[in-house]
Amino acid sequence: MLKSTLDKNLQGSPGPGLIFLVGFMGSGKTTLGRKLASRLGYLFMDLDHIFEAQEGMTIGEYFSKYGEDAFRKRESEVLKNHKYPEHAIIATGGGLPCFFDNMDWMNAHGKTVYIKLMPKTLADRLQNEKDERPLLRERHGEALVQFITEKLEEREPFYNKANIVANGLSLTAERVEELLSFKATS
Ligand code: S3P
Repeated sequence: MLKSTLDKNLQGSPGPGLIFLVGFMGSGKTTLGRKLASRLGYLFMDLDHIFEAQEGMTIGEYFSKYGEDAFRKRESEVLKNHKYPEHAIIATGGGLPCFFDNMDWMNAHGKTVYIKLMPKTLADRLQNEKDERPLLRERHGEALVQFITEKLEEREPFYNKANIVANGLSLTAERVEELLSFKATS
């Protein structure tokens, strides 16, 4: 779908054309976000990367240096203070929607899409690429599945506040586009 068509579909909806992707680590926010942005001709941005660029260090380093509470505070400030363009797809860190009023803020400033996946699927995806994620260090196999199950239970009430809850299995950018258009015109 062309950008102009989506603009038409989103006409009358609140927000400046920002689409926030939320979901657990490993749910594919960045990959999907890039594809969606390219289909729509929107800019893609990843709040984890913006955070790292602003702080001049990786999130892992920030966690080690200042701890999780400080990270959550800064992460919320980055979300709320960033100067967004009129249209953008924004991938958010897995924990971001679950702290302070971040989820409500995103709902007030754009559309939100929760990419939903089961703990086992997330664990399979994260097993091989979790080195950069401070919360997953030292967790493997069953312990990783257990950790994700518990964290997801804690986080889903926040994720479920999203405008759209999308089944993340085999989710395509085209499908998200359909869901967004449907929601906007219904
Ligand atoms: C986190 C997820 C990470 C990153 C940080 C904390 C979390 O982002 O923000 O390591 O609490 O789930 P991704 O979901 O992009 O991996």
